Amino acid sequence: MANGPTDSSERFPRVVRSVQQLRSDVACARAAGRRVGLVPTMGALHEGHLSLVQAARDECDMTIVSIFVNPTQFGPHEDFDRYPRTMERDLPLLRRVGADLVFAPDRQTIYPEGFSTYVDPPAVGQPWEGQCRPGHFRGVATVVLKLFNLAGADVAYFGRKDYQQARVIQCMVEDLAVPIAVRVCPTVRESDGLALSSRNRYLDADQRERALALWKSLLLARQLVQGGERQAESINGRMQQRLIELGVDRIDYAALVDPVTLQPVARVQQRTVALVAAFVGQTRLIDNLEIEPCSS
Ligand code: PAJ
Repeated sequence: MANGPTDSSERFPRVVRSVQQLRSDVACARAAGRRVGLVPTMGALHEGHLSLVQAARDECDMTIVSIFVNPTQFGPHEDFDRYPRTMERDLPLLRRVGADLVFAPDRQTIYPEGFSTYVDPPAVGQPWEGQCRPGHFRGVATVVLKLFNLAGADVAYFGRKDYQQARVIQCMVEDLAVPIAVRVCPTVRESDGLALSSRNRYLDADQRERALALWKSLLLARQLVQGGERQAESINGRMQQRLIELGVDRIDYAALVDPVTLQPVARVQQRTVALVAAFVGQTRLIDNLEIEPCSS
């Protein structure tokens, strides 16, 4: 990086909207032997997204961030229309962490007239989010595969915050031999434990307080396992009870699952993941925690 004073606007990441431009920029980088990283997002960026950009910066020579609010992953009664679109705030954040290029296609670019090919998501996408949000992972897998094909990156970065989504992408990449490495990075949290999410901005002060129920129910699950409880049914019940006590309005699920298959476990014998999804007001939140039973 050059030393000395620079006009700060110079270091804004380049915003590219067309496929041709994206491809030619990536082709240049690759011709120069540079390793290319891709961070797919829907914008409304926060420190969780930025940690992925940071990871890409650490490992790659060129970091592309895609910003596209993907209509096909939202259900008919979900928040597609009101999903925050904050490009003018996102760009300075991306400049701060040193993204090189922002790919911000419009809807026609991703889904042109006549688009009709979709990815049928892998088995790990069937339970949990797959049940609660039918069609969601079909939309995610389709747009992510398309972004992979458009960007031609070497490595793609995803957050563990969306644990099941990351597994869906990993399985898709493996099953379809997509030539890209997938990295899954840790969940970034507020100091009180709330997982950062673009949807947190829907919460008012009271709801923000009640949203902590998700994290607290996960901590309870960990505490129970580490205290020797092994019956998943009992732990799941206690998580649900804690969620309700702490004020969530509706629970979609709270369960201990196998970290690879995402199938429910009956007994905690090795590493498991606690998954939760619940509504606070109209806002649907998800979170998860990997839990290691203490060896005894
Ligand atoms: P979005 O919700 O914008 O998230 C983009 C990426 O940021 C995802 O990989 C997500 O897991 C990660 N992320 C979100 N919150 C995080 C947190 N608190 N800590 C760490 N990482 C976090 O997920 C999507 O967009 C879309 O489904 C997408 C993959 C872009 C396809 O449209």
